[in-house]
Amino acid sequence: MTLKTRTSETLLLGPGPCNISEGVREAISRPLLGHLDPGFIKIMESTKAQLRQVFNTQNKVTFPISATGSAGMEFLLVNFLEAGDKIVVGVNGVFGGRVAALSEKLGAEVIRVEQEWGRAVDNEVFADAVKKHSPKIAAIVNGETSTGVYQPMEGIGTACREAGSLLFVDCVTSLAGMPVSVDDWGADLVFSGTQKCIGVPPGLAPVTVSERALEVYRNRSKPTPSFYFDLDAILAYVDGEGGRSYHHTAPISMVFALEAGLKEILAEGLEARWKRHADAAAYLRSELAAFGFEPVVPEGERLNPLTTLYLPSGLDDAAARGKLLNDHQIEVGAGLGPLAGKIWRIGLMAGNARESSVDRLVEVLKTVL
Ligand SMILES: Cc1ncc(COP(=O)(O)O)c(C=O)c1O
Repeated sequence: MTLKTRTSETLLLGPGPCNISEGVREAISRPLLGHLDPGFIKIMESTKAQLRQVFNTQNKVTFPISATGSAGMEFLLVNFLEAGDKIVVGVNGVFGGRVAALSEKLGAEVIRVEQEWGRAVDNEVFADAVKKHSPKIAAIVNGETSTGVYQPMEGIGTACREAGSLLFVDCVTSLAGMPVSVDDWGADLVFSGTQKCIGVPPGLAPVTVSERALEVYRNRSKPTPSFYFDLDAILAYVDGEGGRSYHHTAPISMVFALEAGLKEILAEGLEARWKRHADAAAYLRSELAAFGFEPVVPEGERLNPLTTLYLPSGLDDAAARGKLLNDHQIEVGAGLGPLAGKIWRIGLMAGNARESSVDRLVEVLKTVL
């Protein structure tokens, strides 16, 4: 396969990143400010306030970690989980598996609630495991990008409250694309990433931490074993009232981009944006059914920003994706783990969640398949 130089923008319909808007592009190319410049601090404050709205939370501690989504996961675990603590983790794909693996590295006792790939974790089974083990943290993935599953959250927050556990939720692919309501869920530790439905390049991990979780943090037996992710040290920089002290140099341009992306989200309205993602996903599923693509995930558990479809029989997965990318500048995602070679993961995220993205893909599929 010869690689052609691509001169125009690739349509990013994979699992993220997605294409960014003109407004975000303009923000990221603005002249730099110093990272303690009052002008930058103002933008950081605006970013934090808007993140609270998008997460649907009152949590004061809400800000972007200066690294990609996985850093949000690691920041929360390294500060709130100590060696010997118990964590119950819902595992139905790559990212629940990542939470479990990282928790093991931190020396925690990990109790996995397994579910087959392509299905949501059973809420009752998960809640029962929380009640039985009373872990320090109960972790669940709200949008499992490896399989295209959206996890219903009913009953999970209540079970965590009753068991005295902190509820940890991965919202990397759901935030700003499907309902996320941190305070209504009773969630305590929540993270996301910028490159999916927020519509900003990869590089920041928005996080939010409840008051209940802060109390747990204050009662750690030992200091957080990390410099970069140390909550108190970061807060002295992103939150210091009456003066902020240097911890690391914030990625200024990325914060400009996030602030601009959040403004666009709130101008559209969260519910309108969730509906736009739902409508685009429904259109995608119905248009691709005509080619023989079949949904992996049953209705009611589908992640609208990322649709997973079984390939029509006889389709050469890698060759077809290669043609889409190299001849037509459209990226779609491959399957992972047990679903590799069997499915495509098609993302319709942020500005790409429109019928026009699907129409462009369909036109090209007519020639490629
Ligand atoms: C559900 C989920 N969690 C965590 C991550 C990790 O984020 P990143 O790749 O930005 O580090 C991803 C990335 O795709 C994801 O989809």
